Amino acid sequence: MDKLEGNTNKINSYTQQHAWNNFFDKENGVYTLNDLPESTINYLLQVIKEGEIKNVLDNGCGLGRITGFLNRSSIPCVGVDISENALNKAIKNFADYPYFVLGESHNLPFANEQFDLIWFWRVLHNMGKEERRKSLSENFRVLKSNGIMICSAQSDQDPIINSYRNGVEIDVSTFEVIKQTSEGPTVYRKHFYSKEELQDEITSIGFKIVDFDLVSEYSGLKEYNKQEQLYWRVKAIK
Ligand SMILES: C[S@@+](CC[C@H](N)C(=O)[O-])C[C@H]1O[C@@H](n2cnc3c(N)ncnc32)[C@H](O)[C@@H]1O
Repeated sequence: MDKLEGNTNKINSYTQQHAWNNFFDKENGVYTLNDLPESTINYLLQVIKEGEIKNVLDNGCGLGRITGFLNRSSIPCVGVDISENALNKAIKNFADYPYFVLGESHNLPFANEQFDLIWFWRVLHNMGKEERRKSLSENFRVLKSNGIMICSAQSDQDPIINSYRNGVEIDVSTFEVIKQTSEGPTVYRKHFYSKEELQDEITSIGFKIVDFDLVSEYSGLKEYNKQEQLYWRVKAIK
């Protein structure tokens, strides 16, 4: 792995960190590699092969399924996540490659231009507007020139948006809902993207979009009972 410069920054988004820590404190057996469709894994491997990728940042790595999988496939990868509960489990799951760093995707603890590829899978839609913009701009900053970002984000075409309408709409198509966790009621946030909005957010940072698709994927959460959800999948180049 190329030398990574940087350090673990102080975590600022206390509320969302708290929510994700509660989530990962309770949840086991979620977000496993088996929950990802083969088409997603094949897409990632194809991008790595075509782009001659030497290192990867798994931004918002959760329990580390992609970080672990890539390292075990001899593709150097580091995972960053806001939740130390997730990372503690990731380190146990992948003790052979414990390359995980605590940090915020909108304030990445890495120096400029270090990565060939950023895998930003189902993270962006969990933030408010300003954090989303900052996260995309941080991805741009830590990517090498011509580096690739693969991003997936919840689509507004997913009917699950209707259940979020029972929550509070804090911004256009951004909802907050309260879920019970072992720590008591916790607020979770989700933004539902239209195609145009996601295109605009990504290109306004300076990325060039080369692929844009709608993909269906098992959410990984027991409460949705294996129901699939719709995500935009974007490949963008710096
Ligand atoms: C739906 S999970 C997806 C995890 C992983 N990408 C995967 O596909 O297995 C969202 C992840 O994003 C992380 N996350 C949410 N907001 C974040 C932020 N601002 N910075 C870093 N990680 C964040 C959460 O802790 C959680 O692990």
